[in-house]
Amino acid sequence: MEIPSHQRLLIIDFGSQVTQLIARRLRELNVYCEIHPFQSVTPDFLRDFAPKAIILSGGPASVPEAGSPRPPEAVFALGVPILGICYGQQVMMHMLGGEVLRGEGTAEFGRAYVDPKGKLDLLEGWFDGLEATGQEQVWMSHGDHVSRIAPGFEVYGTSPNAPYAITADTNRHFYAVQFHPEVHHTPKGARLYENFIRLAGFTGDWTMAGYREQAIAAIRKQVGDAKVICGLSGGVDSSVAAVLIHEAIGDQLTCVFVDHGLLRQGEAEEVVTMFRDHYNMPLIHADEQDLFLGALEGVSDPEVKRKTIGKLFIDVFQKHAAEVGGAAFLAQGTLYPDVIESVSFSGGPSATIKSHHNVGGLPEKMGLKLVEPLRELFKDEVRALGRELGLPPSFIGRHPFPGPGLAIRCPGEITRDKLNILRKADAVYIDQIRRHGLYDDIWQAFVAILPVRTVGVMGDARTYDYACALRAVTSVDGMTADYYPFSHDFLGETATRIINEVPGINRVTYDITSKPPGTIEWE
Ligand code: XMP
Repeated sequence: MEIPSHQRLLIIDFGSQVTQLIARRLRELNVYCEIHPFQSVTPDFLRDFAPKAIILSGGPASVPEAGSPRPPEAVFALGVPILGICYGQQVMMHMLGGEVLRGEGTAEFGRAYVDPKGKLDLLEGWFDGLEATGQEQVWMSHGDHVSRIAPGFEVYGTSPNAPYAITADTNRHFYAVQFHPEVHHTPKGARLYENFIRLAGFTGDWTMAGYREQAIAAIRKQVGDAKVICGLSGGVDSSVAAVLIHEAIGDQLTCVFVDHGLLRQGEAEEVVTMFRDHYNMPLIHADEQDLFLGALEGVSDPEVKRKTIGKLFIDVFQKHAAEVGGAAFLAQGTLYPDVIESVSFSGGPSATIKSHHNVGGLPEKMGLKLVEPLRELFKDEVRALGRELGLPPSFIGRHPFPGPGLAIRCPGEITRDKLNILRKADAVYIDQIRRHGLYDDIWQAFVAILPVRTVGVMGDARTYDYACALRAVTSVDGMTADYYPFSHDFLGETATRIINEVPGINRVTYDITSKPPGTIEWE
């Protein structure tokens, strides 16, 4: 989806682990930017992209090494401000007539301190309060170092192992720093980016209100009068995509909500009521509980569960999508981190593209084209767009919920009886978390019902019921996670409530495994 009217900043990626953070910092400043691997930045690309400024990222390669990556010479002839970071600084110096030497005792990894020299607009406000030490903390991660700066550049900061930690050619607005201003360990890094975009003339025209208008125009242009179908899961991404597309094309959009019988308490009603009644969207509520639960009968193996659910989901979606008749597009809530091309050094010069998580190859199978209105957004921007579109805050802040649903929170055999007990226990647990004001501090929380019965005593009588495990984790992206440190009081109160309010459970445990070595879900 082209949104050409924004001022655009181009980040040329040389493979740093933290390139995405540069984009985050800039988007927070209402600057639209895109990350592109150095291999795909050709002179033609530069002309079409028309960046207002360029950032050269860090990266693991070594400039003096033959075949190490370079941006095209053309970037330096565009007449736009350029900021080089770490490898980006070194490649800039090398290409503009300076010199870079291999490591040998000049490496700096982690915290370092730079001494400022002279006055530089890029560092405005940067050295405030430095009178005491004369130094500012930055984060370094480099083996090589610049040994001679390029003609036209001056030095504005040094660190013990980087004599040219901050350099600039103020006439051309070329800036180069050895450290990483995008990480939190460079406390004044955000200020440096703010100064850079101000110097480059950005007006901060990337806002969610603006994005909404332009995305709507782009959807209308792409879709014309064709029909669009959208798989609605009730998760944030598909919900925001659906509301945005509905605003653009109204009843040309039909959503399909598949109820596989593995949803949480009240979830199906909540999603259907909101989208059908509140938003007036054409919505197919595919109640396929019997189909899914029938197919899962007797299945205990986690992988077989997942495969069974995945295959049936596609069949059901396809069946109901066919009812829409003549749909030409499938809408998906693909996000920007899913589409950023990552730089591959081991796999030769071609860029590897992270695999898209589209619905199991459905678009090709059904001959549909994709509408992906969130392709340019990060997760928190999707939430901001959701707020802009008027989705209720409780919906926007929801914890992630996996496609296979409660099936992977029910180790062992899945029965309707166990699912009902699990739903009730989960509802009590989430209610507890909300009552204690902890919901937004937790990435994901849920109950798993364990395939064990234990002996208990309630009201002088023996019980023989299921044990359950509470799970709550903090995480940034679900890739790693830590268990949430609830107080003992909270855990005790929650266990009492679950045992009192949920017949079928007589023992509650708390899962204190991190990821790794555990995973967030139990299966
Ligand atoms: P794990 O258990 O792998 O989960 O640590 C990481 C995150 O991914 C979610 N998850 C899934 N989401 N389909 C999904 O849509 C799946 O099959 C699936 N498996 C795990 C999980 O809830 C957590 O947020």
